[in-house]
Amino acid sequence: IKNIAVLTSGGDAPGMNAGIRAVVRTGIYHGLNVFGIRHGYDGLVSGDIISMDAKSVANIIQRGGTILKTARSEEFKTYEGRKKAYENVKSLNIDALVVIGGDGTFTGAAKFIEEFDIPIIGMPGTIDNDLAGTDFTIGYDTAINTVVDAVDKIRDTAESHDRVFIIEVMGRDSGLIALRSGISTGAEAVLIPELEVDYDAIMKRLDKSRKNKSSRIIIVAEGDKEGGLVVADKIKSNFPNYDVRVSILGHIQRGGKPSCMDRVLASRLGVGAVEGLLEGRRGEMAGLISGNVTFTPFSKAIKHINKINTDLTRIVEILSL
Ligand code: F6P
Repeated sequence: IKNIAVLTSGGDAPGMNAGIRAVVRTGIYHGLNVFGIRHGYDGLVSGDIISMDAKSVANIIQRGGTILKTARSEEFKTYEGRKKAYENVKSLNIDALVVIGGDGTFTGAAKFIEEFDIPIIGMPGTIDNDLAGTDFTIGYDTAINTVVDAVDKIRDTAESHDRVFIIEVMGRDSGLIALRSGISTGAEAVLIPELEVDYDAIMKRLDKSRKNKSSRIIIVAEGDKEGGLVVADKIKSNFPNYDVRVSILGHIQRGGKPSCMDRVLASRLGVGAVEGLLEGRRGEMAGLISGNVTFTPFSKAIKHINKINTDLTRIVEILSL
């Protein structure tokens, strides 16, 4: 392997820049030429590929978003698109790729390897933390800290006005953003798609907790069957005298400076990804399991496993008195 290229794909996540930096600098450290592919797989298909050096990734470790830009490519989902992508790879003599993204990114990578036999290593970059083969994905820690900061602020208003706030958070079909942010903001209930919602229990909990506190917060994962607005309606119809508000946090959860944890994670996985390629690995995602860089085949990494730790859901209940 002499020439490698890196891209970011899918939703942006804080720490992607730290990952790009780590890939570029590890490549240079090992004497490789490194290219950057802009706009995810779209750039691979259209040939939007630039040469990168150590300076091109200076002063980006602390920046949110991705300097390479990102996309969810429709063209790369087609055989014709992937064929064009391969022709671009060949014309620049690119020997291997590092792709940073989530399950869509790795599904595309697996298909590309199968058809064109090119070595690819993945790095988990998504705020959702919904991949197997890593304890945490790059961007998740920053996103949950952003949620915590927002919920703490909303708590001030909830407390001042004696209100119930329903706060909807991202995560696609995963409840992991909701669960951790719920525990750390002292939420009275957390609704996640992985678990059946027991509305009776929630209503009882709200009623009971009224004696001890004037504000109540319910975190609802966006993948919940009902969603924040419907949950609010249910609470209002059960307790017509409650002052209920809904806040949907949206894309603020994707932006901002990456946390220390995300910068370190992205740096470790970037080094691991490039060194993995040099050791002959392909078709795997570099993740961190129990503190060690570990490689998991794409086919396993993208399996949406139920990572919910029921100790965490119990904690919400026990501490919501
Ligand atoms: O995968 C990251 C994520 O932010 C999800 O939590 C959310 O469901 C989705 O992307 C939103 O995507 P978009 O930015 O395309 O609206």
